[in-house]
Amino acid sequence: MAEVGSTRDAAREWAERGAPEGACVVADRQTKGRGRSGRRWESPPGGLCVSLILRPSRPLDEWPSLSLVAGVAVAEAIHELVTLDVQIRWPNDLLVNGRKLAGMLVEASGSSAIIGIGLNVEASPSGLSDAISIQEATGSAPHRYQVAAAIFQRLESRYAAWGRRGFSSIRAAWLARSGMIGETVCVSLSTEELEGQVIDVDERGRLVIRLDTGLQRSCDVGDVRVLRPMKSA
Ligand code: BTN
Repeated sequence: MAEVGSTRDAAREWAERGAPEGACVVADRQTKGRGRSGRRWESPPGGLCVSLILRPSRPLDEWPSLSLVAGVAVAEAIHELVTLDVQIRWPNDLLVNGRKLAGMLVEASGSSAIIGIGLNVEASPSGLSDAISIQEATGSAPHRYQVAAAIFQRLESRYAAWGRRGFSSIRAAWLARSGMIGETVCVSLSTEELEGQVIDVDERGRLVIRLDTGLQRSCDVGDVRVLRPMKSA
């Protein structure tokens, strides 16, 4: 559809009414787009907004790793269509030269998981200097629906593998596209902030950091700020 309040809200309602796995809502523009932690998600014309309804067979506590699955699938789809160095940032961002190209959000709604994907294809929100679109980054952009088709194709196979083996099916691909290992970061959790060096992403998709005290912590969710990039050798 051309415009909707939020594909997320439309997908949630549809899921509640029994939509089958794979049903999705795609829009060119949202007037009430939502990002993580209830933040507003700017969705100007020229973007791609997708909410996909899944009915995962794996346990609920593994569902957060679906946003990493979506990250790899979207990065692969973009790579298939344009020459662009896209980096995945835990848990759910795609960046180009440090600027945000796409955000992913996975939410549980009853027995469904709704994967939300917002991708700046032809345009990025004006006034957000840390956002970038495929058009800005490469000088041209494939049609949004071509991008959507490539995303669905990649997601289908990555999600099937996740259904069989969980996040471990995609961990190597995620790490290869991430480049976060070795960075010093600050992770904002709901009740505390942790500062430390990223040492891994574990078998469940959690970010593992080593604190200054030497202790290791695994983070399920949280906003990550880079304090220092990886030390070069
Ligand atoms: C983030 O905060 O980085 C995640 C943003 C997710 C935005 C997408 S756009 C499609 C779907 N509809 C929404 O209202 N939000 C998600």
